Amino acid sequence: MKFFIDTANLEQIKEAQELGVLDGVTTNPSLMAKEGITGAENILKHYVDICNIVDGDVSAEVIATDFEGMVKEGEALSALHPQIVVKLPMIADGVKACKYFSDKGVRTNVTLVFSAGQALLAAKAGATYVSPFLGRLDDIATDGVHLISEIRQIYNNYGFETEILAASIRHTMHVIDCAKIGSDVMTGPLSSIMGLLKHPLTDSGLAQFLADYAKGN
Ligand code: E4P
Repeated sequence: MKFFIDTANLEQIKEAQELGVLDGVTTNPSLMAKEGITGAENILKHYVDICNIVDGDVSAEVIATDFEGMVKEGEALSALHPQIVVKLPMIADGVKACKYFSDKGVRTNVTLVFSAGQALLAAKAGATYVSPFLGRLDDIATDGVHLISEIRQIYNNYGFETEILAASIRHTMHVIDCAKIGSDVMTGPLSSIMGLLKHPLTDSGLAQFLADYAKGN
């Protein structure tokens, strides 16, 4: 299972990278705005800064909502750095743009996916990644984790190579649930990854080992 971090915060990306378990980064316009990154030039520079920290794929989202605009923007994003993956919204023009880019060998991430049918369409259009937003489904009292299992089943049935990128992960249990289902990738906040470390028996066990060692040394 690949671990992506869902942030545009360079410090958090560095921290996850230093842990040695980071496979990539996802961003979106809201995450960029949260870090105060505004203006076309600054945004493009920030993507390159992220690519220079992490070894894996970095999703950069288009703002255009029409096919021509998405193609133009996606080509510029993809030319920025070999690690960039063009992130496209799950709308009709986004599906067309996904097919356009996949035919050209440009990697894509179809985002804002909330149903198995949308995920099927993204795979048919050749998406590299599909991003079902499980946390946002949970927010409206719909089982987000169940959507990941439906998509896993559909992709397995037909051997689709599109990778399931479980997105909108809110906490560590989401990560574990997605791993059990066989999601290819998870993207979440740093806390969802660091939470995997924690167990009180690890802490008390280590404290005991160190105390026993100190008695005789
Ligand atoms: C995915 O790529 C999105 O950036 C993200 O996971 C959305 O998560 P949120 O629902 O926490 O905003």
